[in-house]
Amino acid sequence: MQFGHFDDEAREYVITTPHTPYPWINYLGSQEFFGLVSHTGGGYSFYRDAKMRRLTRYRYNNIPVDDGGRYFSINDGGDVWSPSYRPYKKDLDRFETRHGMGYTRITGERGGLEASVLFFVPVDINAEIHQVTLTNLSDAPKAVDLFSFVEFCLWNAEDDQTNYQRNLSIGEVEVEDGAIYHKTEYRERRNHYAVYAVNAPIAGFDTDRDAYLGYGNGFHEAAVPHAATSQDSVASGWYPIASHHLEAELAPGESRQYTFVLGYLENADDDKWESPGVINKAPARALLARFDDNAKTDAEFARLNEYWDNLLGSYTVSSTDDKLDRMVNIWNQYQCMVTYNMSRSASYFETGMGRGMGFRDSSQDLLGFVHLVPERARERIIDIASTQFEDGSAYHQYQPLTKRGNHALGSGFNDDPLWLILGVAAYIKETGDFAILDEMVPFDNDESLAQPLMEHLKRSFNHPLEKAGPHGLPLIGRADWNDCLNLNCFSSTPGESFQTTENQAGGVAESVFIAGMFAAIGPDYVALARRRGDDAEAERAEKAIADMKQAVIDHGWDGEWFLRAYDFYGNKVGSHENAEGQIWIEPQGFCIMGGIGVDDGKAIKALDSCRERLNTPHGMVLQNPAYTSYQIELGEVSTYPPGYKENGGIFCHNNPWVIIAETVVGRAEHAWEYYKQITPAYREEISEVHRLEPYVYAQMIAGKDASRHGEAKNSWLTGTASWNFVTVSQYLLGVRPGYDGLIVDPCIGAEVADFTVRRQVRGAEYVITVTNSGGKGATLTVDGDVLDGTVVPYAAPGSVVHVSVTV
Ligand code: GLC
Ligand code: GLC
Repeated sequence: MQFGHFDDEAREYVITTPHTPYPWINYLGSQEFFGLVSHTGGGYSFYRDAKMRRLTRYRYNNIPVDDGGRYFSINDGGDVWSPSYRPYKKDLDRFETRHGMGYTRITGERGGLEASVLFFVPVDINAEIHQVTLTNLSDAPKAVDLFSFVEFCLWNAEDDQTNYQRNLSIGEVEVEDGAIYHKTEYRERRNHYAVYAVNAPIAGFDTDRDAYLGYGNGFHEAAVPHAATSQDSVASGWYPIASHHLEAELAPGESRQYTFVLGYLENADDDKWESPGVINKAPARALLARFDDNAKTDAEFARLNEYWDNLLGSYTVSSTDDKLDRMVNIWNQYQCMVTYNMSRSASYFETGMGRGMGFRDSSQDLLGFVHLVPERARERIIDIASTQFEDGSAYHQYQPLTKRGNHALGSGFNDDPLWLILGVAAYIKETGDFAILDEMVPFDNDESLAQPLMEHLKRSFNHPLEKAGPHGLPLIGRADWNDCLNLNCFSSTPGESFQTTENQAGGVAESVFIAGMFAAIGPDYVALARRRGDDAEAERAEKAIADMKQAVIDHGWDGEWFLRAYDFYGNKVGSHENAEGQIWIEPQGFCIMGGIGVDDGKAIKALDSCRERLNTPHGMVLQNPAYTSYQIELGEVSTYPPGYKENGGIFCHNNPWVIIAETVVGRAEHAWEYYKQITPAYREEISEVHRLEPYVYAQMIAGKDASRHGEAKNSWLTGTASWNFVTVSQYLLGVRPGYDGLIVDPCIGAEVADFTVRRQVRGAEYVITVTNSGGKGATLTVDGDVLDGTVVPYAAPGSVVHVSVTV
């Protein structure tokens, strides 16, 4: 069952009913100002940091779910409704929400009136635009009252939800020429405020929530829109909001348009005041002047669309499969931008209060983002590497506003260091910017400890070698990629965090997965060392990789698949000898990506075991059988009910590793089948089962042990976005940047018979036309000449290279 459809031409998903199984959201903004907006107008806005600079309030866990947002209310002759359906839930003659690239347009029609709201954040501007269009579709004149509404958050989203003894006394606003200014705490240490304004004369306003709603009322009972008159209330403490009242007389067929601006502004500390107690509004006035005319708003919207045209131009495919094309060309890349910006902070499953930027998460997010805006990827690499410690380990997270490591979470996740090598390698392959390796980068944000980035990579590479266990495999530390495999934790206190609890000393818990990562990522370190002329270092590293592979063969192979780990006591995890959790997905993918067992049949065996034991029509579960009870020596993984999250859930992030592994062994049909299982566009028709947005990946789909098998959770912010883009663009369609040229080596099911990829990289464009009969093994001609191998040498900037490929 579907609740809408894709409009590929417009790069939109069109939701045609308010009654989706869950709020289906979109993101506004891709630089500093961001908003989340659901298809019924829910969501919130923030500047840079969803916790520290929250502009508008949102209540997670609310009833009804997703009540509260930016609402436009219409009073049409006593009939009060909203084009977003919420909050009034009045039946609409037509409802449509179009989620596009950085914008959302919600349109409702009722009683002969159409109301449409376009939400977007303009490029390079710290504001959100709400452009409202009212159209009288009836054949009689209409006198309509329109009310805007946003509820301010008192900046720190967490404090806002907890510290009522203070916060209910500190709210302050100013109103000038119909513009509403939120200035709570500006009187003391803050030098920033928000403004909400409209480019038309207003009939009234409200800034006090109780005045607007009426004490004790829900959003749907808001007193002011029902009375069709504002109170001109000025908030003093309690709950500051911003609402404007506009009166529109509309002849039959007539349209009226308004631009509302929700802006964030800062003043220098010595320039905060216009006069005592009156904020300096100069920057706000300048902002509002950019939107005083609706034509200016249209121009900014056009600029946003051009921005996305450019971004999405660097990788496009044209095939006979619409679903493949729309995921590759539009939605997967779009989600990569969002995950890059948000990390795991703000979604409808992440409150924006908890997590900072993850060292591991952000390094992986780079992989799907680096081709979009390489300069920003460069900056991110330096930020991430700056939080590394001198011994190669790293802060697990850092705060985006300060770029400092997060002490509360600390360090000790022993996979972290290797992801940095992977991210840097991806950046260099994309750009050819080897000079980044000479960039001086601090350790632990201490400039006096700065070393070239290459030295950071060296310490990353060495870390698993220095922290190796009795089998020569890397020690796991707090956890590896799987945050919930806590082999040294032994927690027995309810509610205690498995990620921060004091670990028990003296254990020998080792990770086969980190060993696989080392085999898969290590060769990039070798390649970089060699390019810098450091052959001795390259040889040392090659030897270390060979030894690690051997350790996996000797101690990490269970007979039919790769083991997952050894626990604190040296017992096997992920073995046929275990009662539960016999086979885990992560090491199968990464060991094979690292080439382990590819020559001697182990890889095929492991992949066949995945197919037999892990695969379902909804994707591959993380391990099997799921744990049915808490296992203190395994930690959080066994806390989840079977089939959810890291306990037998389909954790979409690691499915692509198996897909890539299938391409390593050349099984195109399996790779293609697995890709389609988890890719949202192919799941659109089962939206009533999947429940979340059919245009973006979710972190998890309930596994086969769960009663709600096939149901997704945690959409948007997941490493799945990046990894699946890498998988489909670089391995299935097979076009991936190398150090010296563009590698073209497709491995995709025969169903995708002929396709063309256009790839812009290092200033040149490659037009790659493929005739595919499935399997693997490409023959290439480049501009008419047969090429030896699959690496198309990089061409001079400005050139267009034609590659034809037969698989
Ligand atoms: C979440 C985390 C990620 C981790 C994964 C598996 O997606 O953000 O860092 O690897 O869970 O536990
Ligand atoms: C992790 C991941 C998640 C895991 C959780 C444990 O970082 O988000 O997949 O379940 O934290 O607290």
